[in-house]
Amino acid sequence: MKKKVLLMGASGSGKTSMRSLIFSNNPASLTARLGATIDVEQNHVRFLGDLILNLWDCGGQDAFMDSYLSTQRATIFQHVGVMIYVFDVETREMNKDLEYYRDCLEGLRQYSPEAAVFLLVHKMDLVREPRIVLFEKKHRELQNASGDVPITVFGTSIYDESLYKAWSNIVHNLIPNAAILTKHLTTFAQACSATEVILFERTTFLVIATSSAMARAASSAPALSTASLPQDSSSQEDTHQLDPKRYERTSELIKAFKYSCSRVREEFHCLEMELADFTAVLDEMTRNTYVMVIVHDPTIETAAIKLNIRMARAKFE
Ligand code: GTP
Repeated sequence: MKKKVLLMGASGSGKTSMRSLIFSNNPASLTARLGATIDVEQNHVRFLGDLILNLWDCGGQDAFMDSYLSTQRATIFQHVGVMIYVFDVETREMNKDLEYYRDCLEGLRQYSPEAAVFLLVHKMDLVREPRIVLFEKKHRELQNASGDVPITVFGTSIYDESLYKAWSNIVHNLIPNAAILTKHLTTFAQACSATEVILFERTTFLVIATSSAMARAASSAPALSTASLPQDSSSQEDTHQLDPKRYERTSELIKAFKYSCSRVREEFHCLEMELADFTAVLDEMTRNTYVMVIVHDPTIETAAIKLNIRMARAKFE
């Protein structure tokens, strides 16, 4: 199954940078060397078995944008699953950006009316005034420009975990069997007496599904497709205060660790941590996924968690 993802936005807004971070495991510091994208760069990324993301990184210079909207219109806008439009938060040409954005929405309406639209207010690290205030202002502006088209807006930066949060949400939107995965993950979490279980895609380390005992207690936490463990799971788990950014932070940290491994020509396989109040195991679940299991019960051995992961593989493959 192929899903077309359009990555659009003004030249220099950061499209190729985010693509190279998420899909090519490059660090943020190397993005300054990237040249402008000429026309469209297409990539196929195998994502979860038979789901292939067909990523169209569309160079944002005016001449290219004009061509997407005229001669290449049908080619660009047909069969789109998701359009991601990137806005540089510090742009001095917001009106022009919005004009192109509206034109692209029109192209989508014509050729792919079912496509989901995600808007990224990018380079948030450069903002000096309170970020939330500026983000909300931009959000309103984008909402107005979108008319009745449903949009999802994220504030992002390549220098922190916010990019992983946005992209995990986007990709989650494209996975056809996300609800089933979450259901299996919850059964697995129960079998491990885990406080939390997270399923990551192997190359990107984007979060695909989570199952958290905390979800019940903190239903307001912005988690992806969380599923509560049944009532009889240890009530003491509810007292653990977990950071609402923990999923995207983990993606970011593991990606940085993988990059360090590659620099010393080592391959990353798995990770085990036994800390004072919890144990964490990160291991391969299937050919395309990794699973992280967090257990707070000190009587549960790491080896038992690893055995459970091995036993569950067939179910998730
Ligand atoms: P075109 O290919 O011309 O369409 O541009 P693009 O949107 O692909 O921009 P690109 O990814 O090449 O990024 C342009 C510059 O923005 C690079 O120097 C990046 O290092 C920088 N950049 C990208 N993301 C961020 C970010 O989150 N924060 C900051 N401060 N700089 C960023």
